[in-house]
Amino acid sequence: MAESTIFLLLAGIGITVILYVLNITWIHPIFIIIVLGLLILPGIYAAIIGGPFVPSSRKRHKTMISLADLDPTDTLYDIGCGDGRLVFSSAPFVKRAIGYELSVPLYLFAKFRSLFNSKKATIRYGNIWKQNYKDADVIFCYLLPGSMKRFYKEIWPTLKTGTRVVSNAFQIHDIKPIKKEDKVYLYKK
Ligand SMILES: C[S@@+](CC[C@H](N)C(=O)[O-])C[C@H]1O[C@@H](n2cnc3c(N)ncnc32)[C@H](O)[C@@H]1O
Repeated sequence: MAESTIFLLLAGIGITVILYVLNITWIHPIFIIIVLGLLILPGIYAAIIGGPFVPSSRKRHKTMISLADLDPTDTLYDIGCGDGRLVFSSAPFVKRAIGYELSVPLYLFAKFRSLFNSKKATIRYGNIWKQNYKDADVIFCYLLPGSMKRFYKEIWPTLKTGTRVVSNAFQIHDIKPIKKEDKVYLYKK
């Protein structure tokens, strides 16, 4: 959470400085706090329902990318992409890499980072449970066990045959992974 919290804090300080410099006193600081608080709410919801932002380690990212056996024709999704780091590190190896994120500060931070990364990487704001993954060749996830159950019930049946699902840390308990390495699980539809 650290980088996105810093991002939000800087945004708050920036807004306050601008208001001060422009001598805008009619906007009460409480209003800014409420607005910033509202921006944090979807992230809190996502953290409780899907999983908090704990980025996969660099080593796990490498394992996820290697297990996925990425191909230049692949369309890849990172569902709950946090600050987008996995989307950016996979993008050079695929046709396009898309990350969905519900937390506003994380989304803004990832979107900002996307300006300096591969054009094949796209960061979208959205709830992972409301998206369409029919064109997915690869799906990356790092979600809580309850969300993996939901994934199997709601998203798995919609995937095309051959889609590879790579989950960090948590398994889909209803099916056997075809490969497992360092707590990273590979499934194939
Ligand atoms: C454990 S982090 C994983 C981040 C990244 N995928 C990685 O491996 O480094 C889980 C992320 O999923 C996001 N998330 C949880 N539920 C979500 C939902 N329903 N829609 C979109 N994002 C969600 C959280 O905000 C958090 O950033």
